[in-house]
Amino acid sequence: MIKNVTVIGSGTMGNGIAHTFAQHGFEVSLVDINADALAKAVQTIINNLDRQLKKGNIDEQGKTDTLARIKTYTDLQQGAANANLVIEAATENRETKLKLFKQLSEICADEVILASNTSSISITEIAAVTQNPGNVIGMHFMNPVPVMKLVEVIRGYSTTNEVTQTIMQLAKTLEKDPVEVNDYPGFVANRILMPMINEAIYTLFEGVAGVQEIDTVMKLGMAHPMGPLQLADFIGLDVCLAILKVLHDGFGNPKYAPCPLLVNMVTAGHRGVKTGSGFYKYTAGSKDLVVADKFR
Ligand SMILES: NC(=O)c1ccc[n+]([C@@H]2O[C@H](COP(=O)([O-])OP(=O)(O)OC[C@H]3O[C@@H](n4cnc5c(N)ncnc54)[C@H](O)[C@@H]3O)[C@@H](O)[C@H]2O)c1
Repeated sequence: MIKNVTVIGSGTMGNGIAHTFAQHGFEVSLVDINADALAKAVQTIINNLDRQLKKGNIDEQGKTDTLARIKTYTDLQQGAANANLVIEAATENRETKLKLFKQLSEICADEVILASNTSSISITEIAAVTQNPGNVIGMHFMNPVPVMKLVEVIRGYSTTNEVTQTIMQLAKTLEKDPVEVNDYPGFVANRILMPMINEAIYTLFEGVAGVQEIDTVMKLGMAHPMGPLQLADFIGLDVCLAILKVLHDGFGNPKYAPCPLLVNMVTAGHRGVKTGSGFYKYTAGSKDLVVADKFR
């Protein structure tokens, strides 16, 4: 019986995962090493609840109850102590995740399910550092979590049928549509999406067309709701780069090599929406999509 959920990492994904579980009646412990990130996450959740309130998707009581179910922690031990399920949504870095899962395996009781929201890192490898690899699974939510229906459920090599069924059922309780996939680099979503984003960046890098032109072709020509460069900004350019590196290393195929322009942008600190600049520039309060100065 899953009642208490610990979410680790309170960035783009962690705040959305915490929001979604709390809205569906689960008690949520949100953990981050960075206290400012926790404060920012709570403010983002409040803003998103207000948006839902305005649209009539929840009422005032629903907002109050959802917020009351979320507690924040900077200490992993305290935050994970009562968990029936842990969902790790920390930075997309292999060493960070392996260290976290090793710690969680020591903190949590044997029956606790340890899930990762990783976009690309091997669930089998993460599971291998824990004491109960059968209880480790991928629960890959999409951004923005309260809105997007898909949850990619990733079975590691050792994940049990029982744990897989529990997580598939849990995703349905959250009113999501889960899809079960096996554990190979990038799973399904990012194995297909990231090469497209990388190709869009190469198309810009090689001067074939500008930012707006590339995104317009894909929006109007392929009926994508958002162009690939805007989507990359939205996902986070650092996250895109990290996933491409995993695909490149995992398959050993040069077709996944990250575009040098993407590498440069991340190195220079232009990581997309979260830093205010990527292929577009983002000003708080403005909904206009303005191409970054560098690409004008
Ligand atoms: N951004 C997306 O669109 C998206 C979509 C699906 C999955 N993901 C995956 O979700 C995960 C999180 O991505 P994000 O975009 O939210 O990242 P983010 O950079 O917005 O947030 C990561 C947070 O993790 C915290 N953190 C780092 N190490 C930690 C630790 N040891 N303990 C606790 N907190 C720690 C950081 O302080 C930060 O607040 C990644 O694995 C990513 O691949 C991202």
